[in-house]
Amino acid sequence: MTKNSWAAWTPEKTEEFQLAFIAWYEKEKRNLPWRVNLDPYRIWISEIMLQQTRVDTVIDYYYRFMDWFPTIKDLAEAPDERLLKAWEGLGYYSRARNLKAAAQQIMADFDGQMPQTIDEIRELKGIGPYTAGAIGSIAFELPEPAIDGNVMRVVSRLFEIDADIAKASSRKVFDEAMRKIIDEKRPGDFNQAMMDLGSSICTPTSPKCEECPISAYCDSYAQGTMVNYPVKTKKLKPKDVYYVGTIIENNQQEFLLEQRSATGLLANMWLFPIQEVSQALFEQLKTEWSEEEQQLSLALDQEQELMVAEEHVTPLEGYDHVVWQKRNLGEVTHIFSHLKWHILVFYGRNTGELILKEKQDWVPAERFSELVFPKPQQKMVALFEKERH
Ligand code: ADE
Repeated sequence: MTKNSWAAWTPEKTEEFQLAFIAWYEKEKRNLPWRVNLDPYRIWISEIMLQQTRVDTVIDYYYRFMDWFPTIKDLAEAPDERLLKAWEGLGYYSRARNLKAAAQQIMADFDGQMPQTIDEIRELKGIGPYTAGAIGSIAFELPEPAIDGNVMRVVSRLFEIDADIAKASSRKVFDEAMRKIIDEKRPGDFNQAMMDLGSSICTPTSPKCEECPISAYCDSYAQGTMVNYPVKTKKLKPKDVYYVGTIIENNQQEFLLEQRSATGLLANMWLFPIQEVSQALFEQLKTEWSEEEQQLSLALDQEQELMVAEEHVTPLEGYDHVVWQKRNLGEVTHIFSHLKWHILVFYGRNTGELILKEKQDWVPAERFSELVFPKPQQKMVALFEKERH
């Protein structure tokens, strides 16, 4: 049972707590590119990038994004390819698509200015309660909490909150606690202090309570129960999906690429052709086309002094004029939130006519940088560069 011990905090205690916390933030706050001013557009972009992505990774992307799309209008008019290029490698590409849609909403409905009330901000595509709270509090000083995983960890420890943070229904408990303690005069700094504390001190496994500016107010510190919080049920394991990936080169040193359809996972992005296969076929291909297997069959050939006909399954049907390298290049894996892709990669040279399917094209390696490659494709390219010979 969660006890709502925040309800017992007197106004004096709350104020004392806020003063200590904000003073710590003033002293320790990280110098981050979205903290140089209170431009709501800059804050919005940072908050979207920071969902699911670490601060260190975001910084370079952020500078480039601001350089390419300095205003909401630039974002609203951004060509899709360029936008996805700016996002390439950050993952969760729907974030980028939603950003552009929201920028268009702002141009159409708010005269190009970010709206200034929580309800209007919430109306924008891709903006949920966390992001609305972050933008509202940081850019417009609205006394709104911004509750993400870090904040839930801090607050659950502060008040020994037992609500399961994996459940949407727990949100209201954290919302209530945050509304009680937030500094209404400086909500943006308060929320960012929470974020900084969560990433530097109140960390998941070994919180540095000796350095914590609010340990004197922390129930779990008093009880020594920090590691029991937050309470979180296990996420389901992502589902394994198996693919064969084929890197096919022609005589002009061009590679066959395929653009994904306009909807669904990795929409419109370019990859070497991949084809889903059963796990059984994946395992079979993996062993039959392995280095060891090649050596084994070579040894057998010599022993029996006769050529053993290739009885291997082919990596991919429908590429009759492709001469495959005798082994696979290896396996590339990539985890999306709910799926784990396993791609067994093959390399072959095309020696005859190959009729391109819709959305396929031959592309020289020098032009790869012009296309938007999602992470699994980047991993296939890296594997190829390492293993092609
Ligand atoms: N994580 C999410 N938003 C952040 C912000 N504004 N500053 C630092 N880390 C964050």
